[in-house]
Amino acid sequence: MTAFSVRLTGTKYGCGGGGCGACTVMISTYEPTSKKIRHYSANACLLPICSLYGAAVTTVEGVGSTKTRIHPVQERLAKCHGSQCGFCSPGMVMSIYTLLRNNPEPTSEQMIAALAGNLCRCTGYRPILDACKTFCKESVCCQRKANGKCCLDQEGDLIDKEEKISTRLFSTDEFQPLDPTQELIFPPELMRMAENQPKRTLVFCGERMTWISPVSLDELLDLKAAHPKAPLVVGNTSVGPEMKFRGVFHPIVIAPARILDLNVVTHMDDGLTLGAACSLSLVKDILTNAISEFPEEKTKVFCAVLQQLRTLGGEQIRNVASLGGNIISRKSTSDLNPVLAASNCVLNLASKGRKRQIPLSDIFADGVGNNTITSEEILVSVHIPHSRKGEYVSAFRQAPRRENALPITNAGMRVLFEDGTDIIKDLSIFYGGAISTTICAKQTCWTLIGRHWNEQMLDEACRLLLQEIALPGSASGEKVDYKKTLIVSFFYRFFLEVLQSLKKMDPCHYPGVPMEYRSVLQDFQTKMPQSIQIYQANPSQSPQDPVGRPIMHQSGIMHATGEAVYVDDLPSVDGELFLAVVTSSRAHAKIVSIDTSEALQGPGVFDIITAHDVPATNEFYYSDDPEIIFVICVGQIVCAVVADSDVHAKQAAAKVKIEYEVLEPVILTIEEAIKHNSFFEPKRKLEQGNVDQAFETVDNIIEGEIHIGGQEHFYMETQSVLAVPKGEDKEMDVYVSTQHPAIIQEMVAASLGVPANRIMCHVKRVGGAFGGKLLKTGLLASVAAVAANKTSRAVRLILSRGDDMLITGGRHPFIGKYKVGFMNDGRIRAVDTKYYINAGCTPDESILVAEVSLLKMDNAYKIPNLRCWACACKTNLPSNAAFRGFGFPQSALVTETWITGVADKTGLSPEKIREINMYKENAQTHFKQKLDPQNLIRCWNECMEKSAYYSRKTAVIEFNKQNYWKKKGIAIVPMKFPFGLGTRYLSQAAALVHIYTDGSVLLTHGGIEMGQGIHTKMIQVASRELNIPMSRIHFCETSTRTVPNACASVGSAGTDVNGMAVKDACQTLLKRLQPIINKNPKGTWNDWIKEAFEQSVSLSATGYFRGYDENMDWEKGEGQPFTYFLYGAACSEVEINCLTGDHKNLRTDIVMDIGCSINPAVDIGQIEGAFVQGIGLYTMEELKYSPEGVLCTRGPDQYKIPAVCDIPEQFSVSLLSSSQNPYAIYASKGIGEAGLFLGCSVFFALRDAVTSVRNERGLKNTFSLNSPLTAEQIRASCADDFTEMMTNSESASSTPWVISM
Ligand SMILES: Cc1cc2nc3c(=O)[nH]c(=O)nc-3n(C[C@H](O)[C@H](O)[C@H](O)COP(=O)(O)OP(=O)(O)OC[C@H]3O[C@@H](n4cnc5c(N)ncnc54)[C@H](O)[C@@H]3O)c2cc1C
Ligand code: FES
Ligand code: FES
Repeated sequence: MTAFSVRLTGTKYGCGGGGCGACTVMISTYEPTSKKIRHYSANACLLPICSLYGAAVTTVEGVGSTKTRIHPVQERLAKCHGSQCGFCSPGMVMSIYTLLRNNPEPTSEQMIAALAGNLCRCTGYRPILDACKTFCKESVCCQRKANGKCCLDQEGDLIDKEEKISTRLFSTDEFQPLDPTQELIFPPELMRMAENQPKRTLVFCGERMTWISPVSLDELLDLKAAHPKAPLVVGNTSVGPEMKFRGVFHPIVIAPARILDLNVVTHMDDGLTLGAACSLSLVKDILTNAISEFPEEKTKVFCAVLQQLRTLGGEQIRNVASLGGNIISRKSTSDLNPVLAASNCVLNLASKGRKRQIPLSDIFADGVGNNTITSEEILVSVHIPHSRKGEYVSAFRQAPRRENALPITNAGMRVLFEDGTDIIKDLSIFYGGAISTTICAKQTCWTLIGRHWNEQMLDEACRLLLQEIALPGSASGEKVDYKKTLIVSFFYRFFLEVLQSLKKMDPCHYPGVPMEYRSVLQDFQTKMPQSIQIYQANPSQSPQDPVGRPIMHQSGIMHATGEAVYVDDLPSVDGELFLAVVTSSRAHAKIVSIDTSEALQGPGVFDIITAHDVPATNEFYYSDDPEIIFVICVGQIVCAVVADSDVHAKQAAAKVKIEYEVLEPVILTIEEAIKHNSFFEPKRKLEQGNVDQAFETVDNIIEGEIHIGGQEHFYMETQSVLAVPKGEDKEMDVYVSTQHPAIIQEMVAASLGVPANRIMCHVKRVGGAFGGKLLKTGLLASVAAVAANKTSRAVRLILSRGDDMLITGGRHPFIGKYKVGFMNDGRIRAVDTKYYINAGCTPDESILVAEVSLLKMDNAYKIPNLRCWACACKTNLPSNAAFRGFGFPQSALVTETWITGVADKTGLSPEKIREINMYKENAQTHFKQKLDPQNLIRCWNECMEKSAYYSRKTAVIEFNKQNYWKKKGIAIVPMKFPFGLGTRYLSQAAALVHIYTDGSVLLTHGGIEMGQGIHTKMIQVASRELNIPMSRIHFCETSTRTVPNACASVGSAGTDVNGMAVKDACQTLLKRLQPIINKNPKGTWNDWIKEAFEQSVSLSATGYFRGYDENMDWEKGEGQPFTYFLYGAACSEVEINCLTGDHKNLRTDIVMDIGCSINPAVDIGQIEGAFVQGIGLYTMEELKYSPEGVLCTRGPDQYKIPAVCDIPEQFSVSLLSSSQNPYAIYASKGIGEAGLFLGCSVFFALRDAVTSVRNERGLKNTFSLNSPLTAEQIRASCADDFTEMMTNSESASSTPWVISM
């Protein structure tokens, strides 16, 4: 579906594969026989337009707009601060809206389920859920009443004499009520069409494809006989991604969704028969109803299937994906096939002149490749049987994320006992995720028939299963040991479940499961989180003054209505061309030849752009070669195609043939770089005290290392540029999604060989950046500009998610090696650390990242003798880039790791070691900068208190004593986050303020709006300075035309520096106005402006801020690279499932010192969003490369960022009260990055839980955990009999399939 051609740009394109939900729309259909209208959410990116015949599609524009009326969903999302960059907001709105259309008063479970398929990279979801809660049946409060206090009561309690503490970031009184009678009705013409027009076969012929939608089964069978290779497309969630991403092409597609036989729902005596075209959502509803209608004994299969359906995909996927499609695709990741096969489900198949039934298990009977269904056959329906007396069925799955993620391994298991006994009469076990399709453990099951359900049987079963389900090391992905562990762990869980059921059946005979094992029988559930946000309000402040108030994001409403314009939403320019890049498929090679002949023949192809077309400097990859001869990473841009459409450009790009001569060495990892001595210079070092001497005198020394994986920025808006040549004087307008327009201008001008004054860069807003839209964007903008220059046409370049991930790099993978000397009482006396960062193939910002990692590595600790080194490794990966935190999240994790190491060794708790070594009084850092740690201590103490750390720690210990397979962990981590950019010129800023004669103000500054609310804050600043309401002030765009040479919006500094410049400009204006105001003090703003104009007083002023006086001398190892420090602390509690490695984030309490917040809603949003991004970095986001250096994780399907299910169930953020900062605007502090590191409190809470498992099992040896601490690592660290079996089982051939980076 393309919304572009109809100018409906609200529906966003974030991934194209159904994984992010940015493109969510509502589909409504009318069924004339039942006269029912069905509304459901769906991902527009996978919806074939032909499938929408007769359906109404509601996009975000149809829900509401500022031109007509905004809908309560849009209003509340914006006013609850649920939108930052806004790119995910239309999708969020559509998911919530669709739920409310079906159920105006949903439960919080329904609400949270509706959002499982929508990703947001900015907010951390809490404010979005706050907006959702206002529609739910239950109260909007935190529901902590049981513990004595509720958030709504706290405000009063928290007021002390001097300060007013506030917990409200929005007021529900302002909200319009939801009135279901005001919703758009289903179009009557479509209703009439459905009622009056007899259903007939529909045929749509496109340029390359034909879509045939028959209405009768016979017709379908004829079609299938005529076109046996044509797929049947229902939800297109399997065929669609194959066509889009794997180059599969189908000239004919048959759409059977309208055939009645394929939509039947029949209750039979022995079970349910469901049509193959039934959507998974429908199947879920039917099974839920059936469970309430039938006796428990009969519904065990239904319950097990339902168990899988709850977390399969997101709601948008389940609403369209069909039961038949899931079964017939026979993917190894099908969550339904193992459980349906184990449960003896039967397939009703038909082909021309033939109908037959086969057990579903038959199609997997002999494992891989045995397809007993012929290509002419179709699946009509599926029979799901009732369970019988003495029969038990279960389903299990473990995925990289609990919801909306394909499983790593899953299973379906069924056992039937001889009447009234525990003797196995029949047993059926199927696994998914293991090899390329579902697999049956047939031999194991046969062997165990006749056995009692006891420990001996369990031992035998595990041994047999591991023998039978052999996983080749290189087949079907990686994680072989983990998958094997899951295979036996799942069976063990089934064993326990059945034991418990046997006990229920006959408590006298069967002992059931020991108490301490029982909790593992419950899976983690996603619950609506409860949250509280605390900030300080200033009661004496004038009500007109907006500074310090939780003002809504300036574009919030427009984000939610889809009216906010991003680069790809700009209307097309006459004659515009689309650009697709051709990238290297080799990591290190010489290009022998590039054959573009076939590509040039492609439809709509206009030209091919190569390095020869660059008129001046070829900035790409720091090489001036007129020709790209060498490639140094996979994903390096080699050339580009321009064509009349995005599709044509991409088709042609795929046809460019490049011949390579592979070069050695190919260096991918840090270890390989060290081996080949491959580094970028300079290497950096800092030292204080006498480290070597100190090591001589300490009681104890530990040494170790930690590997920290990289991280993809995963901004929701991919890299986007529109270059428009103006036709005169070599002028060019460049509309670009960047954090740094000035560098784009410089790079484009340099490539074209024109002065910078001919290149105008415009940035309205950026759909998320996090450091990833700096130099890389400059390269892409230069490519687009060169193409525009060559063709004299406007050129649009929008990277697909896959290309974006492949080309642009991310956070630097890191190895930290440490040696730490300490006394038995926990005092750390000496530290020697080395950091290796994987810079990728070019230096970009890597040396800076290495420097920052050294400058911030002390985190909150005073280490008297300290030496640290950092080197940037040169590898054949795409160059890594700046990313929120800039090296600090990595080096401080290393620090916290050795802190915990010291705790382990001394037997003291980690929090004690932290307290003992924390900065306590005025001190100097290891580069001799002074700091006053008072607020660090305050944050730590407040966090201890607010989280009730010690009592909860006791409760955790108690829980762990009582639970064997589930463990809890808790950790509290302090943070010192230095603010500064290292040199003065990098923090200079300018602003331009115009006052028009009607009194309205146009404000411009050099900062970029990428979700962090900078424009909102700048308007707050201008409003305070000019003493006029915010509504009189407008911000239009950031542009190199209005503010030249602006520094990048990076390093949390945007508000600080631009705020100063805006203040300066406003004060200049006010100074000019002052005589007029003095003369007429009772006059209005408009009177004064009118008068000023008549007196020829200039109503336009620039403002300027020189930047902070910062410096660092790396030779001497000392300086003042920072201006001030932010402080914070976070306490997190988690629960892990030792059998699977799965975990749940139970609670997080954050206390943060950010001075006087200019906008607490924006600032708390930054803290929470960064924190959740930190959870992603430290616990789930894994980049995988092939051994040849090809990035395998190229979309939300393979790369999991946190979703709604990952945020803590209780989430509290408090801003430290009475904190002042003399160095920044209005005593505030820059907050964009700091919160990310606090995500590591979850990492250490997980470590705490794992430690408790290991202690209980007598595993006393030290263990190390790397980041991200995924379920796989947690499972492996919780060593037990099952992991032991892996060490004993034969290791299959293990050619590594992927390398984690
Ligand atoms: C983002 C995303 C997340 C997902 N998450 C999960 C998950 O967590 N767990 C999981 O199990 N799956 C998951 N899936 C896969 C999804 O469930 C399946 O793709 C879906 O069920 C297939 O149904 P469909 O109607 O969309 O199939 P289509 O793509 O329309 O067709 C799939 C195939 O099945 C064949 N087919 C369809 N119907 C019939 C029929 N009646 N007779 C014969 N052949 C037929 C077609 O010929 C085609 O080859 C996910 C998919 C996406 C895109
Ligand atoms: S763009 Fe459709 S789900 Fe991501
Ligand atoms: S606001 Fe959700 S992705 Fe930016």
